Amino acid sequence: MTKQRLDDLKTQLTEHNHRYYVLDAPIVSDAEYDALMRELMAIEAEHPEWITPDSPTQRVGAPPKGGFATVNHAVPMLSLGNAFNEEELVAFDQRIHDTLRQAGFLAPGEQVEYNAEYKFDGLAVNLRYEQGVLVQAATRGDGLSGEDITSNIRTIASVPLRLLGNATAWPAVLEVRGEVLMSHRDFEALNQEQLKRRERVFVNPRNAAAGSLRQLDPRITAQRRLRFYAYGWGEVSVAQPSPQQDLLAQLNHELTEPYATQAEMLGWLQRLGLPVSRSYEVVKGVQGLVQYYQRTAEARADLPFDIDGVVYKVNYLDQQRVLGFVARAPRFAIAHKYPAQEATTEVVAIDVQVGRTGAITPVARLKPVFVGGVTVTNATLHNEDEIRRKDIRIGDTVVIRRAGDVIPEVVAPVLEKRPEHTEGFVMPQSCPVCDSAIERPEDEAIARCTGGLVCAAQRKQTLAHAVSRKALDIDGLGEKLIDQLVDSGRVKTLADLYTLRAEELAALPRMGKKSAENVIKAINAARHPRLERLLYALGIRHVGETTAREVARYYGSLENLMEAEESDLLRVADVGPIVAASIAHFFQEPHNRSAIVRLLQSGVTIDESAALSVHGSALTGKSVVLTGTLPTWTRDEATRYLLAAGAKVTGSVSAKTAYVVAGDEAGSKLRRAQELGVTVLDEAQLRVLLDVRSLE
Ligand code: IVH
Repeated sequence: MTKQRLDDLKTQLTEHNHRYYVLDAPIVSDAEYDALMRELMAIEAEHPEWITPDSPTQRVGAPPKGGFATVNHAVPMLSLGNAFNEEELVAFDQRIHDTLRQAGFLAPGEQVEYNAEYKFDGLAVNLRYEQGVLVQAATRGDGLSGEDITSNIRTIASVPLRLLGNATAWPAVLEVRGEVLMSHRDFEALNQEQLKRRERVFVNPRNAAAGSLRQLDPRITAQRRLRFYAYGWGEVSVAQPSPQQDLLAQLNHELTEPYATQAEMLGWLQRLGLPVSRSYEVVKGVQGLVQYYQRTAEARADLPFDIDGVVYKVNYLDQQRVLGFVARAPRFAIAHKYPAQEATTEVVAIDVQVGRTGAITPVARLKPVFVGGVTVTNATLHNEDEIRRKDIRIGDTVVIRRAGDVIPEVVAPVLEKRPEHTEGFVMPQSCPVCDSAIERPEDEAIARCTGGLVCAAQRKQTLAHAVSRKALDIDGLGEKLIDQLVDSGRVKTLADLYTLRAEELAALPRMGKKSAENVIKAINAARHPRLERLLYALGIRHVGETTAREVARYYGSLENLMEAEESDLLRVADVGPIVAASIAHFFQEPHNRSAIVRLLQSGVTIDESAALSVHGSALTGKSVVLTGTLPTWTRDEATRYLLAAGAKVTGSVSAKTAYVVAGDEAGSKLRRAQELGVTVLDEAQLRVLLDVRSLE
């Protein structure tokens, strides 16, 4: 009876584990899972002779004695050929098409069917299951033999110690091949831990995964949260003949795969409980491959882990066999790589850059290096602490990373290549542009130039921000032109831009008459900006587009806003204490106020109709009654929005009431509205009328 209960518990726990770690869809609570686990441990404590290696209690074992043993692979672990461009891809498909056509697999005009998969950027491993139980795991090594890392692989929670289902479904032997990797999030967390413990940080998730697998002590590996994705198989022998297999093949013991295609095989592995990424797709012809490549490129930046390309495999296994192998790689598969996101190069110098708000950012000047598809010569070092933490010095060889469109960054120095007598970075005491003092508030990571708009760098960037597309949208005022205008002293603030004349622009170096006129045209087109755009253009700290829109809507006019108290600003959706303080402070500054006055004097008028006009048709002049508690807005907030939209907010419901906005526990006013047939709105419907997006 107890023995049976033990088997039952093992099966249940294996299933729950699979649901939790592989499917991400648990059906029991952690507490229920723990209770089952404790029951199993209790039985095993009483009957140690019943403990088997596939028991869920046996994930973390003792370190292997004498290091990792060598394992000869039953079937070699191959590598893949690469295609680096579309031409090579076309050639790959053509070769396959020709061979398959000759062998009679394809009708005239028929395209080759492929299974397209991610190329996971981790470490290849082979997991051997015998009679459904994990008996050995090995690294790829040189492809013929690798290292026995069974005790480390056992600690990966998503790797089943025994396959799902009952013994009749299990193949006699199944070698699963796949990749061990670490997610970005787990990688970041691990590095934080390493820092805290003053141990070395890892350069990228791949290295972290490799380091973790190479740990002799599985207790350490167990803490590393590794993942595994299956993409193939080695030796397979299916105990029971399956209907999908032809008789001759069974007799010859040649074909042991129970399914006919790569995609079906992956589905089978998945049903046996192995983690298989759902990202694979069956596609046809070069066009199908290219589309998969591009779709995946777009998804790549948002994936929780790294992929360094995609892999295409001829889908039908019988076709794969006909195609065979060249040297150590199959002819039926190819890797299509993405541009490498990392490269190494040398730090020539470390300079500082002054941002719009005076923030000083150290920048590494690099020997040009091709990474992420472009040549990189500068990379951000973020701030002083970051440089110290990473210990990056001038003259170091460093790893550079450029993922997607983000700014390239210096990941880490390659310490083995550090020359003697290197210098660290020292934050300058004064601004390299305006010579004002650089200060760093004690609790902040960022040092700032204290020059404000005296500093040409800050002035230039403030102007560049003001004319940018989401602000005043003045086309043609590029970085070079702003540099010239500021350096010559002609433009000091935004107002000066509006006094520019075409002739003086045309007189500047590298400026034609036509382009000068175009710039003036663009400036003139921006003489009547909407309030929210002007607000965003002012470059107030912490005021992005969304905040600018909310603030503009709430106050309706620049005049109202300039007089707003900090406490009143807090009523605006999207505005918290830091933002409110920043806005209030900005408008209290005399030089900001005079810059605004000068802007208005230079002929700029502000379009303040937005709040009213948008909602004019729905709410202008209407009387509205608020009752009950709204889910997110306070009574005050709702009132301000309604007033800004031109509505009258009244206290009692009458036949003249246009709308009653009712929240929770609305009482007599709601009943009265219903009696009178007045339209009742909830907060969401009011937001629609006001055109205020929900806060989710
Ligand atoms: S198939 C018979 N599929 O790429 C072909 N490999 O250069 C053998 N890899 O060492 C490999 N994702 O570590 C295959 N979906 C995938 C893969 C993949 C990553 C790695 C694997 C192998 C290397 C081949």
